[in-house]
Amino acid sequence: MKIIYCLLLVLGLSLHGHASRPKLMPMPTSVVFKQGQFRLNQHFNLTIAGNFDERIRGASARWLKRLSEQTLLVLNPKQIGDKNAIFKIHITKPAKVALHEDESYQLTVKDKQIVLAATTDIGAIRGLETLLQLLQADTDGYYFPHVEITDRPRFPWRGLLIDVCRHFIPIDVIKRNIDGMAMVKLNVLHLHLTDDQGFRIESKTYPKLHQLGADGLFFTQEQIKEIIAYAANRGIRVVPEFDIPGHATSWFAGYPQFASAPGPYPIETKLAGLDNAPTFDPTKKETYTFLKAFFNEMAALFPDEYMHIGGDENNGRQWNSNLQIQDFKKQHNMANNHQLQGYFNQEVRKILVQNRKKMMGWDEIFQPGTSNDIVIQSWRGKKTLFEAAKQHYPVILSHGYYIDLLYSAKDYYLNDPLPTNHGLTAEEQQYILGGEAAMWAELVTAETIDSRIWPSTAAIAERLWSAASVNNVADMYERLASIETQLEYLGLSHQKNRDVLLKRLTNGGDISALKTLTDVIEPMKGLSRRKQGTTYYTYTPLTMIADAARPDSKVARKFEKLVKTFVSSPTGETAIELKTLLLLWQNNDRLLQPIINQSPSLHEISIISTHLAALSGIALDMISYLEKDKKQADNVFSEQWQQQTAKRIQDARLPRGSVEISPTLLDAFTPLVQRVLQK
Ligand code: ACM
Repeated sequence: MKIIYCLLLVLGLSLHGHASRPKLMPMPTSVVFKQGQFRLNQHFNLTIAGNFDERIRGASARWLKRLSEQTLLVLNPKQIGDKNAIFKIHITKPAKVALHEDESYQLTVKDKQIVLAATTDIGAIRGLETLLQLLQADTDGYYFPHVEITDRPRFPWRGLLIDVCRHFIPIDVIKRNIDGMAMVKLNVLHLHLTDDQGFRIESKTYPKLHQLGADGLFFTQEQIKEIIAYAANRGIRVVPEFDIPGHATSWFAGYPQFASAPGPYPIETKLAGLDNAPTFDPTKKETYTFLKAFFNEMAALFPDEYMHIGGDENNGRQWNSNLQIQDFKKQHNMANNHQLQGYFNQEVRKILVQNRKKMMGWDEIFQPGTSNDIVIQSWRGKKTLFEAAKQHYPVILSHGYYIDLLYSAKDYYLNDPLPTNHGLTAEEQQYILGGEAAMWAELVTAETIDSRIWPSTAAIAERLWSAASVNNVADMYERLASIETQLEYLGLSHQKNRDVLLKRLTNGGDISALKTLTDVIEPMKGLSRRKQGTTYYTYTPLTMIADAARPDSKVARKFEKLVKTFVSSPTGETAIELKTLLLLWQNNDRLLQPIINQSPSLHEISIISTHLAALSGIALDMISYLEKDKKQADNVFSEQWQQQTAKRIQDARLPRGSVEISPTLLDAFTPLVQRVLQK
């Protein structure tokens, strides 16, 4: 990023003195704002020059429609193509939708002219997203600020994994998420298509796979082609994952003969604790004959060069209790199951290579002696990431990008695939191709999945596209809030579906008080919700308050910021804002309790609302004490008060109904208490 822009970020100003500046995400490599604006009117038109194909025509038409919807300018798509157009897109060649394709672009906005130049049409598609993010409004109308942007991605592999197995995620949801991915310049959709709970793709070769391996919910091959084309039109690759030899129950529903123990194998309905999950028998020739025909079929369906075979979490139980498999290990001098799985991987790799595919898999497929043409996906930590790179295996990072675990965008954002202490040579670094956000679907449905993917995936997208030095968290959150809203214009439902869930919880009643509480509670993070004693099944309803609540509460972050400002210099204005929030929370309990009382699904969170009200009262007392001068103030903040307050905060941390008051909000009490005790 050029110095000039860094300075602008720090000062929060733009050169031409406008209060707001465009909220770009991911931040481009170089942005230099200039004096002046390009004013939009209904004569706005664009033309495409150079060597290009249909993809950029479609992308330009969609872009023009979005611009028109935002500005209310009536922009006729026929306006595309006029040679004298004020917006010129220049493309050197149509791209391949493939790893390492050129995605760079240059964008210049000047007086009466915009030029977007790119080597490939995919580069131009990336640039179109940036240009739309530059759109600004003032009293005179809409405009793009004059600017020069040069941009290219830091990593070539920037993905989102969507698990469509644990809960099926239908095609329209996949498509709207592809649109979201394109907005933030992600370029790989990794579809986790088979797992214990469902075989989610039609196989014409082995129809019992989807017929018996799924509950009627799977993608037809026509739908898969539609997804691939939709993604390709946005410069996004589709990498399919067929998870073997473990995570494979759904394969055996129709074909039990390939498991390592006799069936039958009904589709798994439990979502965790699958200690006895069945596993492919790696010792039988028939297993590979079966897999070969299957992978031949899938290789013809999916054009991408990479095919993911999973390989994770095979605990080897079935192998240990099969005498014939134990004999096989002895005969082949295999010391353990890991080596047996290595043998299995090699056999599967041969099938993929015959289909001109490169094999990809989770950490567990990284074994000494495996050919270097495979890609490792590191999920258990960064150890494999660095080891693989050192041994010249291409590798991508997913550890720290598990968005199903509902950590804050900050946590994901600061997780760099190449942290400063990586210890890799320049050559070794090249093997780290990028990363993928991972949306595992144990606890999401089509109704809630967007609210777990977005906006945190936009923060990950920036980490993978922008320079490592773009890491100012406060600035990221400011831009993230803007992108979050724009993502909904595309049809994503991460914000709006919450109200629907809340209405269901109040049986169609008034949700305003429940919204106030939901704004500051978060679903339990990590694996804690699953470990709470409830066994989750694929048919467990995911319509609880924990499903409506979203991670990384914005209101809690606002509260935290206000407290910080207030304790460092208690001004009247900050005090008013703080008190407004606290009074809202204090009064909310009175409004919410009658609603909770009439809503059986909400009983569990009654105490959370009460805790919030009580703590708000305590905070209000502290603020009014800090506002008074020393002589007026009546210091009631004794040792006993301190202990009671600490206990109240501690009690308020207890989760109920799988939600908790945002830890950010509760942590913000500490500086307030400290400030009071200092006075
Ligand atoms: C994984 O999370 N088991 C790859």
